[in-house]
Amino acid sequence: MQKIKNYVEANKQRFLDELFELLRFPSVSADPKYKDDVVKTANYVAEKLKEAGADKVEVCPTAGYPIVYGEKIFDANLPTVLVYGHYDVQPADPIELWETPPFEPTIRDGKIYARGSADDKGQFYMHVKAFEYMMQNDELACNIKFMIEGEEEVGSANLGIFVAANKERLKADVIVISDTSMISLEQPSLETGLRGLSYVEVEVTGPNRDLHSGVYGGAVGNPATILAKLIASLHDENNHIAIPGFYDDVLELSAEERKELNEAPFDIEEYKTDLGVSELWGEKGYTTIERTGIRPTLEVNGIWGGYIGEGAKTVLPSKAFAKISMRLVPNQNSERITTLFKNHFEKIAPKNVKVEVKPHHGGEPVVTPTDSVAYKAAEKALEETFNKKPIPTRGGGSIPIVALFEKELGIKTVLLGFGLDSDNLHSPNEKYGIENYLKGIETIPLFHKYYAELSK
Ligand code: BES
Ligand code: MN
Ligand code: MN
Repeated sequence: MQKIKNYVEANKQRFLDELFELLRFPSVSADPKYKDDVVKTANYVAEKLKEAGADKVEVCPTAGYPIVYGEKIFDANLPTVLVYGHYDVQPADPIELWETPPFEPTIRDGKIYARGSADDKGQFYMHVKAFEYMMQNDELACNIKFMIEGEEEVGSANLGIFVAANKERLKADVIVISDTSMISLEQPSLETGLRGLSYVEVEVTGPNRDLHSGVYGGAVGNPATILAKLIASLHDENNHIAIPGFYDDVLELSAEERKELNEAPFDIEEYKTDLGVSELWGEKGYTTIERTGIRPTLEVNGIWGGYIGEGAKTVLPSKAFAKISMRLVPNQNSERITTLFKNHFEKIAPKNVKVEVKPHHGGEPVVTPTDSVAYKAAEKALEETFNKKPIPTRGGGSIPIVALFEKELGIKTVLLGFGLDSDNLHSPNEKYGIENYLKGIETIPLFHKYYAELSK
């Protein structure tokens, strides 16, 4: 323990410099404009894996962005840990709201501000540096495999294909992912579940062209108004989702499980202040922790149509659009939910418009075990670095590949995340605490050590 602490202390500046270099690549997978940068990022990751001591490092091509693979297999009798992460990031927009440029990492108040700092470059890179430490000090306790992809933020469409085609190469005893949050540096925690996702785009079409809103307004259904009404009807007065059958498969938690979940420290006033809202919102009968962890939700991610430029243009738009996502919980199925949404939305649309519902990527919800050797090893490692036993929580986000790993490879995951919910993931001014980064690097070798010990 002291040895890794000393190593981190001695190499701190270099660890930060290398991460900064990684953060300077604008590896936005959603925007084709950044294609070259995304590929360059994959090459940089591969180079760093090699430098840290990985064998068989390969930038594996896919139909989309490449997957970086590397491994160190030194004793077939020891367990193998597969590290998954993603080197792609979300778009930085709205760019004008960043205090410092998204791809010029800057330290303020002990935090690294940059797009991807917490999600997920700063987090997966901890594993590369922890691996470097274990290699340098002959402390590798498990075999290790790295799989770092570049399409997580756009739905990992090609990763499933890669996994199915590389089952032998990816064989492992556990998957470790640092791409989630913990409660705080004072109260470590381990996420034990991720929500699934159904994502659709809706298009509402009224008249065959944009119309003068004075000449035709009042006589022709306005797609924007109609879309607003349709969307508003998707929640009832208790903020339950009003799509018939939506909750049919939802697994309810026992009173005991709910009680435990709600024992996690949570300061509602602080939460509101951080977000700048004076009141919270959500499904009646559930706490905020439950609303974001164990309950399904429906959110509008974007809505547009008509004239949105400078000044005023009097127009009755021909079309209106929205992007809508639904977060799913165990036992819901993303395809089934997407179909329910589509059927319902088409059914409630009035006859004066046409609606089209286009499904995007989806993903299945998961719960990860808390009675496994891997969970216990993670618990023990965190307790040692944070001097406090971590508590299990349910995460609100989605990492669709986790369910797929389980299905394709039969391997369970440990979500060893060091970020904070307040790190501004997907928002302007994304940040990652230097302490979170360094503590993560300290904790990971302990995880390997305890995982090997407890597996015996
Ligand atoms: N790292 C996040 C997921 C996450 C964040 C899980 C915080 C738990 C806590 C991941 O990169 C992500 O953003 N996933 C997307 C889904 C994907 C299909 C676009 C998400 O959750 O919206
Ligand atoms: Mn992520
Ligand atoms: Mn993300």
